[in-house]
Amino acid sequence: MPEQKLTYGIIGNPVKHSLSPVMHNTAFKALAVDAVYQLFPLEEDEVESFLKDVRKTNSPIFGLNVTVPYKEKVIPFLDALSPFAQKAMAVNTIVVEPDRHLTGHNTDGAGFLAHLAELQFDVKGKRIVVLGAGGTARSILTALCLLPERPESIHLYNRTHQKAKGLVADLGKRMDVGLVTVEASIDDLNIELADLLINTTSVGLHSDDPCLVDDSLIHSDMLVYDVIYRPALTPLLKLAQAAGAKTANGLGLLFYQGVLSFQHWSGMPLDTKIKQKMRRSLLTYA
Ligand code: ATR
Repeated sequence: MPEQKLTYGIIGNPVKHSLSPVMHNTAFKALAVDAVYQLFPLEEDEVESFLKDVRKTNSPIFGLNVTVPYKEKVIPFLDALSPFAQKAMAVNTIVVEPDRHLTGHNTDGAGFLAHLAELQFDVKGKRIVVLGAGGTARSILTALCLLPERPESIHLYNRTHQKAKGLVADLGKRMDVGLVTVEASIDDLNIELADLLINTTSVGLHSDDPCLVDDSLIHSDMLVYDVIYRPALTPLLKLAQAAGAKTANGLGLLFYQGVLSFQHWSGMPLDTKIKQKMRRSLLTYA
């Protein structure tokens, strides 16, 4: 049997629109590594057996990303978690160790902070508003709560109030969430006082989506961050630009989480030139 190519990939459902293959295959090519990054669309009942196969010594798979809806669901099938993944209880990166044991990492939180650093936004002492309580909010809240120099406050709103309360209660078992207030109404977020507004919901993916917040509250002294990157300019970001606010979409988060995942798989920092190529590939395809 011919030897299979060194394989990496992303598991999730759906995964077909993922830009991760573009970014990682660009890096492999630039590094002249004979490896391929593939899409692995999985049904929920296939996840366990897929990961069981990855453990086998003849598996060509050496690293994985995990996306919706499996970032929490993969955890029971892993052998170990990084300290951050253990705090967030969400995994977006799996490293296949030399003994084929599987270690779960979360690079979404650090990726978000790396993008904020690039934007020269220091969260220390800032007032932050977060929309949404899904997997992305989980990682971002964990990163913000674990910082040694923390924001002043985080006001969180989610359409399903109980889900936001449940998320904060869960995180509170493993970290100090005293700075987080869950608001039952979007009108209580004090957006007019916020320094940073983060949309982690899927509202904005479609061009006819509404803007969740009252745009008259957005002001020029804030950063509006939408984790959505396609479209590059969501209705929220358009209104924020019109209000004179600084804006950012999630392409930077996608880039940094990918760089950090790659570094976990390779065990080595990526060269600046390779990172530039990865970022350019995202900009080309986004
Ligand atoms: P991700 O992992 O990307 O965060 P997710 O876990 O599916 O994705 O979370 C999607 C988020 O978008 C949730 O906060 C969801 O709110 P609910 O918990 O109420 O479902 C939010 N969301 C999706 N559609 C929405 C809508 N039409 N209005 C408001 N929030 C919405």
